Amino acid sequence: PPLPRARLLDADEPLRAGRAVFSGGQEGFGYNGGIPGPTIRLRNGDAFARRVENLMDQPTTVHWHGLVAPQDMDGQPHDEIAAGSGRDYAFPIRQRAGLNWYHPHPHGTTAAQAWYGLAGFFVIEDEEEAALGLPSGDQELFLVIRDAQSAAGGMFGYVADIAGTEGEVPMVNGVAWPRTTLARGFARLRILNGANARVFRLRSQAALTVIGNDGGLIDTPQPVDEIEMAPGERVDVLMDLRGFEPGATVGLNCNAAGWPMLEIEVTEGPETGWEIPGHLSEIETLVHSGEPDRTFVFQENERINGEVYEMNRIDFIVPFGAVERWRFASARGAPHPIHVHGAHFQVLEGTVPNGGVRAVRPWERGWKDTVNVRTHETVDVLVRFDVYEGRYLLHCHKLEHEDHGMMMNFVVS
Ligand code: C2O
Ligand code: CU
Ligand code: CU
Repeated sequence: PPLPRARLLDADEPLRAGRAVFSGGQEGFGYNGGIPGPTIRLRNGDAFARRVENLMDQPTTVHWHGLVAPQDMDGQPHDEIAAGSGRDYAFPIRQRAGLNWYHPHPHGTTAAQAWYGLAGFFVIEDEEEAALGLPSGDQELFLVIRDAQSAAGGMFGYVADIAGTEGEVPMVNGVAWPRTTLARGFARLRILNGANARVFRLRSQAALTVIGNDGGLIDTPQPVDEIEMAPGERVDVLMDLRGFEPGATVGLNCNAAGWPMLEIEVTEGPETGWEIPGHLSEIETLVHSGEPDRTFVFQENERINGEVYEMNRIDFIVPFGAVERWRFASARGAPHPIHVHGAHFQVLEGTVPNGGVRAVRPWERGWKDTVNVRTHETVDVLVRFDVYEGRYLLHCHKLEHEDHGMMMNFVVS
């Protein structure tokens, strides 16, 4: 099938979480009937304001993953939207350009609601990014990659696996094995891993260069052979199609599963002469010279430091404006993609089993909000909460782990 491209959310259109029918007649959930839902596109400095309606038969919330929002606008499990009701969200956009997304976050049912199709893109633009003249229009693809179960009662059948539910069919923008066309030249692929639990390792016959991630542009372009993406992570990648003849087919493939995810037919394109800029963005380097301020060990039975999530327990307090060093260590049950609400962080070198070094991967430079911690790995990050005070969340973005309690509340004050 052709690759669906998400439309933009209309100016006064509420976001409606409800039933959706997907290709092949399967029923699931979707925002405004689609998967992905309509894209929200704003500029740094804009005001975001939107009504969310819950047309489902169960409570939900909408979390704006990657957006720094005040506590009561963050779509946390504490602020459920009851079935049949709605909620108005409004907050200023105060962050650099980047690919963010929105998805449900009700406690205990996030995994099922996300599996059934609730996800959409939330794109922020700014002048720094615009000045680079990156490929846009038809040469810019927004892709949500994930998997689905075909055996369990249709494409969207969901049988929860506490270890992290994986399906045996790849899906891009809600369809399996899609095709699209791109003109010869450069294309910009903005990819979100929207799977519940699957880690993808993306490859292509075309040269790939990472230029950004969760927190927007990185400092310098990073040519890569492969990109590993855990649930919740985003990458901004330039695909070089200059050397392909019109009619040639290029794939975006997942090396881990052996899947062709997306088939791209190269078409004749205008010679633009555009080259990848050598420098992308000036990134502030957070500095912290001491030992970790906090260590989080992600353990068996969905525990962090021995505890299971309690909605009304505050697990720790973080001083507003301070640079802290957090250590994420994984015991069993990994990989754990660790996500933080309320700020972006910078990834430092870590350790791997046997005492080796876990280098910062090319797509982990700059600013991140989710980092993948594999079995027995340790990753340190530097983080500074300097936009809002209030209660935020730290959790594993493997959604079954999150639902079963691998999450903490903390307060910035
Ligand atoms: Cu994308 Cu708290 O999640
Ligand atoms: Cu988030
Ligand atoms: Cu986990």
